[in-house]
Amino acid sequence: MLTVRDDACPRTARARAATANANATATATATAQKTPGPLPPVRFWPVRDLPGVEFDPDLAALMREGPVSRIRLPNGEGWAWLVSRHEDVRTVTNDPRFSRRAVVGSDVTRLAPHFIPVDGAVGFEDPPDHTRLRRAVAPAFTTRGVERLRGRARVMLDELVDGVLRDGPPADLVARVLAPFPLAVVCELMGVPAADRPAMHEWTSLILSSTEGAERSERARNAMCGYFARLLAERHGTGGEDVVALLSAAVADGEITGAEAVGLALLVQIGGEAVTNNTGNMAYLLLTRPELMDRLRGDPGVRATAVDELLRWIPHRNGVGLCRIATEDLTVGGQEIRRGEAVYVSYLAANRDPEVFADPDGIVLDRSPNPHVAFGYGPHYCVGALLARLETELLFSALVDRLPGMRLAVPEEELRWRPGALIRGPEGLPVVW
Ligand code: HEM
Repeated sequence: MLTVRDDACPRTARARAATANANATATATATAQKTPGPLPPVRFWPVRDLPGVEFDPDLAALMREGPVSRIRLPNGEGWAWLVSRHEDVRTVTNDPRFSRRAVVGSDVTRLAPHFIPVDGAVGFEDPPDHTRLRRAVAPAFTTRGVERLRGRARVMLDELVDGVLRDGPPADLVARVLAPFPLAVVCELMGVPAADRPAMHEWTSLILSSTEGAERSERARNAMCGYFARLLAERHGTGGEDVVALLSAAVADGEITGAEAVGLALLVQIGGEAVTNNTGNMAYLLLTRPELMDRLRGDPGVRATAVDELLRWIPHRNGVGLCRIATEDLTVGGQEIRRGEAVYVSYLAANRDPEVFADPDGIVLDRSPNPHVAFGYGPHYCVGALLARLETELLFSALVDRLPGMRLAVPEEELRWRPGALIRGPEGLPVVW
């Protein structure tokens, strides 16, 4: 359960330094005019492994406490703000006074022992550098760039499903389809040869684990960085539309540095496998709630809104992602936030905001409009959102149309969810049909 900590819980070293700095420069009048109310208590959020698609009860408790609370996570130092309302989440993620760049080098309280991206990676940059980096790979993620992959993606998926049908039941849906398909698609997008897919998968799993230890995760990260540095050098001047080709050209044109290209490649590659876990949770829902599956089979028109509704509803990740640091004193959701303090947003919480979504905990397949923030919001909005949608729609159709009668091969209680993962998903989904 959440633990109440002393209000005077120490701030991060960076937050302390920046606040001291801000205090020194703030005018005495401004300070004297403000009579800040008591700070909310700092809650320790252990971020436990949760079964199935259960919404984190600790996050639910934080949401009940108020729109802006204070949390301490298992790693790093001090505490951070947590913003959970839809409107406030959109404010924080879209306001340039909250910086990702300022997080680099600080030991801010966080879920994982390690920070995933290397310095200069897109997740830790602010505009205009952030815009410059995203521009380098943008053509691969436009509607045209993604549509370029549709035909190949469909063939790869059909081959995987053909294999499952050929071998007959039972089959593990994750091992046979939901893991290899997004991996193959993202490798295609990147320009990573098929023979290197297993290494990519292993490194991604280690990087996206909070329990493998910082050293193993960082070794995997360094190995993947070394791989992309070599691939970028090999692909220099060879042209092409894949991400490595685009990055290589951008380095040659002097738009980005070699280190930035590597950081970007790493983040796109590991981001690509998010689809495995997200669709794993979707498949689990369809397998355990027959009324959802029946509706999708009987009413193909509902599939487009259903994909968005499941994206909204599924608790995609454990805890929270990367934080931002306030670069000025400001107010969010009625709460004063001081310059230098760390702020997390919860997209999961925002997606259950009753002010925006009627019946927020219910799955309403034809919900429309559905302004969910499953892919984030603001400049850091998921690069791969269009691709994820394409893959999810293809997978959806394959599961609903090509495997009719599919059901779990084991009792639901025997299913296992990936332990210590930053992104939640089933380890396996044994099915028969
Ligand atoms: C269902 C699948 C997916 C979900 C739910 C998802 C969700 C998200 C979210 C919530 C963010 C973070 C926004 C923030 O930092 O505030 C993000 C960022 C990102 N995602 Fe995804 N994602 C998915 C699939 C993908 C795919 C397929 C790729 C790549 C092929 C990808 C690549 C990235 C990258 C590179 C970022 C960092 C963007 C930046 O910081 O500017 N994601 N994603």
